[in-house]
Amino acid sequence: MKKYLVAFVIALFPLSVLAAGGAGPKLDHMEVDLHNKASLQRGMQIFVNNCLGCHSAQYQRYERAAVDLGIPLELAEQNLLLGDQKIGEQMTIAMGKEDSGKWFGNPPPDLTLEARLRGTDWLYTYMRSFYKDPARPWGVNNVVFPDVGMPNVLEYLQGEQINTCTKDELLHAEKRIDPLTGKAMGGCLTVSTQGQQSPEEFDKTIYDLVNFMAYIGEPSKLDSHRIGTYVLIFLFFFFFLAYALKQEFWKDVH
Ligand code: HEC
Repeated sequence: MKKYLVAFVIALFPLSVLAAGGAGPKLDHMEVDLHNKASLQRGMQIFVNNCLGCHSAQYQRYERAAVDLGIPLELAEQNLLLGDQKIGEQMTIAMGKEDSGKWFGNPPPDLTLEARLRGTDWLYTYMRSFYKDPARPWGVNNVVFPDVGMPNVLEYLQGEQINTCTKDELLHAEKRIDPLTGKAMGGCLTVSTQGQQSPEEFDKTIYDLVNFMAYIGEPSKLDSHRIGTYVLIFLFFFFFLAYALKQEFWKDVH
């Protein structure tokens, strides 16, 4: 009997893990692709132009990012530096934490490690889940981060969204498939007034942005991938060399 009880508890265990992870709205999934340089470059541009006004990424240097992402340094200097910053400097901002804390309630945190802290699915969903809420100081709220202190800074691209979510619904259109027709159904967040981009284009913009944020969270990952390939190639050839050597040594023994 005891054996069955133990087996039962073990069988239930994965369920409890699922339940623990199930709190909060469902997140949309995105595959990070650190090899997609074009995406990372676009992401850097969006980040620098729209986020560095309030958030820093102080553990990342412009130059390192430009070199890693294959952006010519001159172009980066002309287009990506803020004010009189130099290419060798970190991505910092002038706004003091005290001031921004007063203005926004909570100061905008540094974003260098944000993708590791929250996860890329969270970021991808968060950035697309602002909706109109006149009761909030900036006129917007967020499904993933209720009562967030950040304005929807990309509203000029996305437009304005309205929220008809009730509990446990999927947020975004492309994720909700009608089981009968197999077609995508509208999510509970819908764009009411479109901005400069269509919802599909906006999803791509956020994909690029979050891809870039994943990169600044772990810039050496690009290096490790490259070096890893060389290591594997080396091991492959070394195997034959070692084998030939072994044959040579044992020749006399036999
Ligand atoms: C006008 C200033 C401002 C701009 C511009 C801005 N943010 Fe924010 N952001 C904030 C503030 C303030 C918070 C803190 C909100 C809170 O804690 O309630 C925040 C919070 C966040 C968070 C959640 C942090 C956490 O884990 O608690 C993320 C992620 C984020 N911002 C990403 C971005 C990105 C990406 C951009 C650029 C597209 C951006 N922000 C542009 C002000 C800004």
